[in-house]
Amino acid sequence: MKFLIHTYGCQMNVRDSEAVEALLVAAGHEKAASEADAELVIVNSCTVRQKAEEKAIGKTGNLCAEGKLTGLMGCAVKRLGEEVFRKLPKLDFAVGPRAIGLIPKIISDGVFPRLELADDAMSQALASHMSGGVQAFVTILVGCDNRCSYCIVPDVRGHEYSRPAREIIAEVRALVENGVKEVCLLGQSVLRYGVRNAAWDDSDAPSPGGYKEAFPRLLEALSAISGLERIRFTSAHPKGCTDELIRAYKEFPKVCRHLHLPVQSGSDRILADMGRHYTRAEYLAAVAKLRELDPGFALTTDVIVGYPGETEADFEETRTLMEEAGFDNSFIFKYSPRPGTRSAAKPDDVPKAEKERRDQVLLADQEARGLRRNAVCVGTVREVMVEGPSKRNKARFSGRDGGNRIVVWDVSPGEQAPRAGEVLQLRIIDAHAQILIGERI
Ligand code: 5AD
Ligand code: SF4
Repeated sequence: MKFLIHTYGCQMNVRDSEAVEALLVAAGHEKAASEADAELVIVNSCTVRQKAEEKAIGKTGNLCAEGKLTGLMGCAVKRLGEEVFRKLPKLDFAVGPRAIGLIPKIISDGVFPRLELADDAMSQALASHMSGGVQAFVTILVGCDNRCSYCIVPDVRGHEYSRPAREIIAEVRALVENGVKEVCLLGQSVLRYGVRNAAWDDSDAPSPGGYKEAFPRLLEALSAISGLERIRFTSAHPKGCTDELIRAYKEFPKVCRHLHLPVQSGSDRILADMGRHYTRAEYLAAVAKLRELDPGFALTTDVIVGYPGETEADFEETRTLMEEAGFDNSFIFKYSPRPGTRSAAKPDDVPKAEKERRDQVLLADQEARGLRRNAVCVGTVREVMVEGPSKRNKARFSGRDGGNRIVVWDVSPGEQAPRAGEVLQLRIIDAHAQILIGERI
C-alpha cells in the first residue's frame, strides 16, 4: 500500500515518523510520491500547546474527508484517548506514541476503527531506520518524569526510560555502515540518560576514560566509532551539565559544541512555580561552564511567555537572563494551559495581547542578539558539514558548523558539487541573524 506520513511537533516525532516509515517499508508497503498518490495517510500529532494539537487534528479531519485509509499517531492520541473518534468520526486508527510499533500489524489486521495506547512493540520501532541520509536521529531515552507544571509530555509520553547503551551503540554502528556521518541523540532530557534505569550493565566493557555517569560514558563509546563525524544531542536540563559532561566535551572532538538548554523563564519565582528545579543563578552557572570551555559554544533555548501570574517584572527577568546567557537562537512560546497539568488549575491571567507583546519583544531581542553572535564568526574558518543545495538557489550550498549554525556558500559552475556529509573548511564572510555566508578556501 502506498503511504504518506505528515509530521507535527518536535524532533522526537520526526524520528517516530521515520521509524514507522521504516517499519511499513519492511512490511512491504511503499512510500507515496505525493498525497494524491497515497492510499494510506498517517498524521503524527503534537499536543504540547493547544494550537499544535488543533493543527494536527484539523489536518487529519481534512484527510479523513478524502476517504483514504487514515491514521493518527503521536502525543495528541494519548491525550485524547477514545475522544479522538468523537472528534474524528471517520478516522480508521489511532496510536499513542509508545505503541507506534503496532502500526504495520494494525494495517494487516484491517479491523477499524482501532485505538492502541499501551506501551507495546516499542524497542523494535526505536531500532528501525530508513537508509539514505548522512544524518540520523537516535532515540536514547523516552518519556519524562520531570513533571514541570505546564507540561503535558509526561502524561502522553509516559515514564522516563533509558534504552540499553549496548543497543544504541549497535544501532549507531549500523547507521554509520550505511553512510551516516552525524547522529543526533534524542530524549526529552538526554542528560538524564541512565538515571532512572541503568543503561549500562556489568557485562559491558568498562569506560576507558573512567566515566562514571551514563551519558558521558555513552558519548565516549559513540566517539570511538570510526566513520562517525559528529554527535549532537537534545534536549537538556541544566542539572545535567556535570563536570563529567564538560570533560566529555573537552575529550571528544566529535561531540558538537551546541546545546539546546530550555530555560523557560528568568524569574526565580516563576521557575519555582514551574517546578524546574533550578534558579536563575544555577542556570547561568551551567551556561558559564559551557562558555568557559569554549566561548563560541552555541546555546539555544525555549522560553514561555505569559505563564500564570507572570508580571512585567518577571518578564524583565527573562529578558535580562536571555541577554546574559547570550543565546544564539531561541524559541519563544505563548503559554497555553494543558488539561490535567498543575498550572492549568491556575487562572490563565496574562491577556492574549500581552502574551503577544512579550513574544514580539523577545523575538526582536533575539534577532539582534543572533546577529551579534553570528557577526563574531565573520573572518573565522569553520568546519561545515555539507547538507545539500540550497532550496532557493541551486548554485548555493548549505550545511552546518559544529555549533549547528547554518552556513551557505556559492559553488561556481565549473566547481565539483560538494557531496552531502562531506566536511569542508569555509571562511565566514558575512553574517545574518539566522545564517552565515561562507566561501571555500
Ligand atoms: N504552553 C506553552 N509552551 C509550552 N511548552 C511546553 N508546554 C507548554 C505550554 N503548556 C514549550 C516549552 C518546551 C517547548 C517544547 O514547548 O518551552 O520547552
Ligand atoms: Fe514532541 Fe511534546 Fe509535541 Fe509530543 S507533545 S510531539 S513530545 S513537542
